[in-house]
Amino acid sequence: MNKEKSAVQEKSERGSFSGKLGYVLAVAGSAVGLGNIWRFPYLAAKYGGGMFLLVYLILVLTFGYALIMSETALGRMTVKSPVGAFRTFGQKPVFRFGGWINSLVPMIIVPYYCVIGGWVIKYLAEYLKGNTQILADGSYFSEFTADAVSVEGWFIVFTVLVIAAICAGVKHGVERVSKIMMPVLVVLAVVISAYSVTRPGALAGVKYLFVPNLENFSLMTVVAAMGQMFFSLSIAMGILYTYGSYIDKDIDLEKSTKQVEIFDTSIAVLAGLMIIPAVFAFSNGDASALQAGPSLMFITIPKVFASMGMGTLVGVLFFVLVLFAALTSAISLMEAGVSTFMDELGWGRGKCTVLMSVIIFVLGSASALGFNALDFITVFGMSILDFFDFLTNSVMMPIAALATCILILRAVGLKAIAEEIEISSAFKRKRMYNFCMKYIAPVFLIIILLSSIANVFGWIKM
Ligand code: ALA
Repeated sequence: MNKEKSAVQEKSERGSFSGKLGYVLAVAGSAVGLGNIWRFPYLAAKYGGGMFLLVYLILVLTFGYALIMSETALGRMTVKSPVGAFRTFGQKPVFRFGGWINSLVPMIIVPYYCVIGGWVIKYLAEYLKGNTQILADGSYFSEFTADAVSVEGWFIVFTVLVIAAICAGVKHGVERVSKIMMPVLVVLAVVISAYSVTRPGALAGVKYLFVPNLENFSLMTVVAAMGQMFFSLSIAMGILYTYGSYIDKDIDLEKSTKQVEIFDTSIAVLAGLMIIPAVFAFSNGDASALQAGPSLMFITIPKVFASMGMGTLVGVLFFVLVLFAALTSAISLMEAGVSTFMDELGWGRGKCTVLMSVIIFVLGSASALGFNALDFITVFGMSILDFFDFLTNSVMMPIAALATCILILRAVGLKAIAEEIEISSAFKRKRMYNFCMKYIAPVFLIIILLSSIANVFGWIKM
């Protein structure tokens, strides 16, 4: 009885979701973020449009599905964030390392994510002031990021919004913010993409995004699609373990995973529809504008908006959408860090939030100042922000996901995962799950890890 009581007490101190809808919206809020709106369109544009989309969809439905199910089931089974979840199955150094690498990823991502969130607020503020033409100037973005006070200031504004939601707790903060923002986000995404695809010349962009062309296929299509799938579905970021630890045994994991995958992919496709056809319309079909890469959202898109009728309104709506998406994801990243500290240090939510805020402030300031006051510092030729992005996405996340596979194959067992899933529902895709975990995931994870590292050192060209 006492034991039962203390488990309930412990759960209520850690936090929990109020029910199925709150949980699904919070996971969807975590998944839908800068990954969908900033990263997906520029990668789809660069790596072959329809071919990239096809490969991405196959990966989401197989490999992505298996990893989401694994992390969530382990979180729910152990009621712990990654470090504690791994420790539950043994003290071997490989498990300690696996737990910590899964927990460290969100702690390193969230600071630079908040810097980019700050850029989004700055652009929104400028659109609200009607400075649509000024933003369209090709040098605006680099001039803005060269201004240390401005970049640091907007980074702090975004971070304060994230901290406020975390302080409010799981039900009142994380869940409530997602419940309000996710439906608004869908409406905005539909409105902007409908506007974009109806511009003259935009249909060529729609065709480019949806029709796969075999000529555009290469190993790099697979590697880029796989990295994107990780980032976008919040895999290997400690988040799914953490959110899994906040749910009850009656949540149907297979169904909620399917809903999140459909939601996340639909928003990514809508973001592609907002951006790629608009770029085609703007550049009169010259696809070279599609090669802009990460700057597509901050340099190319403002040019597109400035050339459109109602560009200021579209700019405001677009950056509100990006801000909502970025906020809910940043909240989930910070929550994963806070939850690890609560589990490992035994401190309360307030104290752990202060500790995570200090980490965000220090690492985020380094990233923000890396474009100005600290621009003399480069790591492997990358700015500080780019380095953190590379370190997490290309090195730590594949290793973290590999650690999850090893934990399941060597210690937990595929059977125990199936039993955990079957507590709440039938496990219809069990055979596919087992196949992915045993064969596909380890091989593919090693391929992404090696090719990403080879790319950064210039041994291969992605
Ligand atoms: N999954 C989050 C995103 O796509 C981190 O931005």
